[in-house]
Amino acid sequence: MKNMNRMKNLGIAAALALGASAFAQTPINVDASKSIAEIQPTMYGIFFEDINFAADGGLYAELVKNRSFEFDSPKMGWQEPNSNRHSLNKNSGIAKIINYTDSSGNENYARFEINDASGYEIINEGFRGMGIKKGENYRISVMTGNVNGISAIKFELLDENGAVFGEASIAPKGNDWTTFETIISPSKSAEKATLRITFSGKGSIDMDMISMFPEDTWKGRKNGLRKDLVQLLADLQPGFLRFPGGCIVEGRTLEKRYQWKKTVGAVEDREMLVNRWNTEFSHKLTPDYFQSFGLGFFEYFQLSEDLGAEPLPILSCGIACQYNTGELAPMESLDPYVQDALDLIEFANGDTSSKWGKVRTDMGHPEPFNLKFIGVGNEQWGQEYIDRYKVFAKAIKEKYPDMIIVSGSGPSPDGEYFDYGWEELKKLDAELVDEHYYKSPQWFKENADRYDDYDRNGPKVFAGEYAAHPKAEDGPKENNLESAVAEAAFMTGLERNADVVYLTSYAPLMAHKDAWQWAPDLIWFDNLSSHGTVNYYVQKLFANNRGTDVLKVSSNGNKLIGQEEIYATAAIDSGKGEIILKLVNTSAENKQVQLNISGSKFKSKADWISLSGDDIKAYNSFENPKTIVPVENEVKIKNHRTVELAPNSVNIIKLKKS
Ligand code: AHR
Repeated sequence: MKNMNRMKNLGIAAALALGASAFAQTPINVDASKSIAEIQPTMYGIFFEDINFAADGGLYAELVKNRSFEFDSPKMGWQEPNSNRHSLNKNSGIAKIINYTDSSGNENYARFEINDASGYEIINEGFRGMGIKKGENYRISVMTGNVNGISAIKFELLDENGAVFGEASIAPKGNDWTTFETIISPSKSAEKATLRITFSGKGSIDMDMISMFPEDTWKGRKNGLRKDLVQLLADLQPGFLRFPGGCIVEGRTLEKRYQWKKTVGAVEDREMLVNRWNTEFSHKLTPDYFQSFGLGFFEYFQLSEDLGAEPLPILSCGIACQYNTGELAPMESLDPYVQDALDLIEFANGDTSSKWGKVRTDMGHPEPFNLKFIGVGNEQWGQEYIDRYKVFAKAIKEKYPDMIIVSGSGPSPDGEYFDYGWEELKKLDAELVDEHYYKSPQWFKENADRYDDYDRNGPKVFAGEYAAHPKAEDGPKENNLESAVAEAAFMTGLERNADVVYLTSYAPLMAHKDAWQWAPDLIWFDNLSSHGTVNYYVQKLFANNRGTDVLKVSSNGNKLIGQEEIYATAAIDSGKGEIILKLVNTSAENKQVQLNISGSKFKSKADWISLSGDDIKAYNSFENPKTIVPVENEVKIKNHRTVELAPNSVNIIKLKKS
């Protein structure tokens, strides 16, 4: 015990030097002489869905909620404290919602009737407030028309107490719709600011698309993304980006499904849609959750490109969410759904002269996005799915034989639907089957061998949604060390089976502290800050240290899948000339392992990146976002060397071949 504590205090390098012959040692034999499977560059990717305010109110940097008055309640998010809809408002004014009869996208705008400008104001509350940072500039833009008697519009940032801390004005003119812009430079920061609009003059003015973005978005783009959140994604070095979900692909009803064509082109013409997570959980009602589609399919493709990730769009297959209505598009009416898939491929890859390639070009991207994968349906099940999948697969392969189609096996990792789906998809020679599992940490630890016996000649696996749910206190505390280490244990099994498992992604990706529906999530954020969870750092460790080929690892002739609560996999990175060991200790004790690496010579100086903690309930909070993060050390490793794995730890040991 004394020796053990001493080693803990000394840290990894010292523990190595000490050796530990007094303890039981688990042998870990790594055969570095040959590759046993290739690891796909897509092995570790990300799953994005607009759940938990991940898009509007999150990644999409727009700060004004309901900017064009399109929510079901058109003034939701806006307050007019001095106006009364049951009066003539002679001492103030009021906004009236006008509905265009001939518009297919942006249907509403507001007509402001100002009787006494000194008495009128309208305030936007943002997405649970607006995060404003001192030192940054905020670009306001607004479309105005039918300007009659109004000489100026003033925009003011208000803090939580209603004090003004930044302002700017525009002078609107003309009858035709015109966009005006101005910049606000705030004098301080605020997490929950609001935006007040007032007027000079007496008369009326039409306004639409009242918008405010930080200038400093990811890559400085207008209509851009929140930089801190994209940086967290970029740091993962993801192999693919799956979008736009998730159940929102399917919709509560077919009418409310995600339709990519309505999310491209001019932002002001994109048709707003209620978010499926608006009413999904009665204990987590989010009535103000709508999709503006400012972050639409073009932006998802662009983000994939920025991240160096393969784009992986998933489309409705004519089945509404089977947890909701499960409405089916009749087989004889499936054409528009199939056409959406074919047109999407043209949008992504088509020549600039093609119909949809031209839309992409007009949006500023004449080069193709090089789409290679497309998903048919999300979490569908039953014969109704297989019937529809067949129609999609035939049409897609006929026109685009190289396109890789992702199919689904339903919401669970086993059971009737799962077995049926796999059986049928195998018969159809499906290429990639999506599996989902939201399970306990125990399940993840017990299933590190899940793919060991999968058919090597059947479809490949896309472990498209998974997360260990420890059922700790709901919210950020769900992302604790226990769940992260269990996922790491399981992930050693994903990597060992890289000949079958081609893509994997944790889900969901993001959650707003004040507006989430589902936990755990990989990244938590509020209006000003964001941080990776312990689970995020596990994903990062695996993705950043992927390797190109799997090496054989054994312990007393067996795979290491939890004996002594130790899990292991090894890879080689042929480009970098590195041998990469991934060792996980899920126990609360230090563990001694003896490394025997044969078949290759390596330098004794190695990098050891380790994530660990004594308290399995520990998590990264907004107050302490770095409670559990990886720590990197340089160590000396020789063959047949005993090393010690800290309790609840994920360890990456990287050796340079000599
Ligand atoms: O990730 C949250 C949800 O879980 C997804 O929308 C759905 O595919 C699954 O049921």
